[in-house]
Amino acid sequence: MTDARALGRLDPALVISDIDRRIFGGFVEHLGRHVYDGIFEPQHPLADDAGFRTDVIALVRELGVSTIRYPGGNFVSGYRWEDGVGPVDRRPRRLDLAWHATETNEVGLHEFQDWLDKVGSELMLAVNLGTRGTQEALDLLEYANTSVKTALTDERAANGRPQPFGVKMWCLGNEMDGWWQLGHRSASDYGKLASRTAKGMRQLDPSIELVVCGSSGRTMPTFGAWEREVLEHTLDDVDFISCHAYYQEHDGDAQEFLASGVDMAKFIEEVVATADHVAAARKSDKRIMISFDEWNVWYLSKWQEQAATYGPDDWPIAPRQLEDQYNALDAVVFGDLLITLLQHSDRVRSASLAQLVNVIAPIMTEPGGSAWRQTTFYPFSLTSRLGHGRALRLPVEAGTFESDRFGAVARVNAVATVDADGASVFLVNRSTTDAASLHIDLAPLIAALGRDVSIVETHLLHDDDLYAANTLEEPERVGVRPFPHAVDESSVLSFTLPPVSWAALRLE
Ligand code: AHR
Repeated sequence: MTDARALGRLDPALVISDIDRRIFGGFVEHLGRHVYDGIFEPQHPLADDAGFRTDVIALVRELGVSTIRYPGGNFVSGYRWEDGVGPVDRRPRRLDLAWHATETNEVGLHEFQDWLDKVGSELMLAVNLGTRGTQEALDLLEYANTSVKTALTDERAANGRPQPFGVKMWCLGNEMDGWWQLGHRSASDYGKLASRTAKGMRQLDPSIELVVCGSSGRTMPTFGAWEREVLEHTLDDVDFISCHAYYQEHDGDAQEFLASGVDMAKFIEEVVATADHVAAARKSDKRIMISFDEWNVWYLSKWQEQAATYGPDDWPIAPRQLEDQYNALDAVVFGDLLITLLQHSDRVRSASLAQLVNVIAPIMTEPGGSAWRQTTFYPFSLTSRLGHGRALRLPVEAGTFESDRFGAVARVNAVATVDADGASVFLVNRSTTDAASLHIDLAPLIAALGRDVSIVETHLLHDDDLYAANTLEEPERVGVRPFPHAVDESSVLSFTLPPVSWAALRLE
């Protein structure tokens, strides 16, 4: 193991952007044990009067999630929102074709909003543009956001909400480029539908913000062309285009997996370039923002194996699906993805960690039993709590490693934030072999603040066993711990990051 010496500079002049808190969003889909037996388990000893688990509510609050996208995902492309409102005992059971399950509709819009009020997060709604169209989207918008008395708003009031939900962000469908999506269509067909629907929705409520579907991954064969064509139809109608990305370790190649942040950065930059190209060709100054509304580590191949075992008559209720167990390595990659989002916060104005509970989630639950934090919980909760105000570039020269896909990749990746009370630094050591001795010059920060700073919190996520994980039996196997550091008389902060580690520091 060699020791890479790295120099960096914490300078409030290196502004990327003010951070939109919606970058710390989450995503709840009707999928597996996410809603049922996850957030909603009326028989659980810790359930409240509405059937929601209070231990899960406490963990979601601790995670610090700003907005929550709902109700899908693939699920939304076959969903009838009306099934989820009105008296629960009259709600229909439906087949969920996306996940080969039975949907009981016990939880719908009203119950979910009640839960959001408890966790302190804001609703972001997706409309079904897979099996449905403009009229159903308009009905949902009227039901949710209109205060004028109409048949739909009377129904809402009768269902317990006289006041509108006031949903600000709306997704125009989900992953419409994907062959697996119900109602999947071409960029041209989707672009026209999204434009018509967006125009109608704005006629009804001009204050909403709209997200059009970008590609469901950078490796999609239509990536790039899809964004261009969809935006040619919708540039004037929408505010955001979505990006979705999931990463996993392939064939035990941890070093290549640790380059995932580079892929995410390229993805963002390519979508920004495409959106700006469409605007330039139209002589428009409009800047489309990115809603990175699905991102995470996901061992997709495990789900594909499970899906292949379902027979034609298997339509289970709340089956165990996508219950990935995250290890220390996954958490380091995950922390790097958060750093990457902050590094692009001038254009990524919203992002949703997919997902929250039990389904590729930072929080796991056992029916009738405990709830615990996965390894990925820690980078998210710390970045959300400490990373506010403005994002700053934090250039660090710590050498590179060779990636099969990306060539020379920086070993250390870092970003900082500055706010009224101080600053925070987030770093990842992506090397599987080399520790990094870091020296960060705090003088520019001290000069800008006009006062000295001290380190008030340090958090290191690292485990000598990259594959160590938190489980029902051992829920606190992997966590974060403080780490040694020193600031010398020239205001240079020094510390060492072990290989494959993620760290956060708070200066006040
Ligand atoms: O998050 C799991 C699934 O991944 C979502 O339903 C879908 O949008 C994506 O393919």
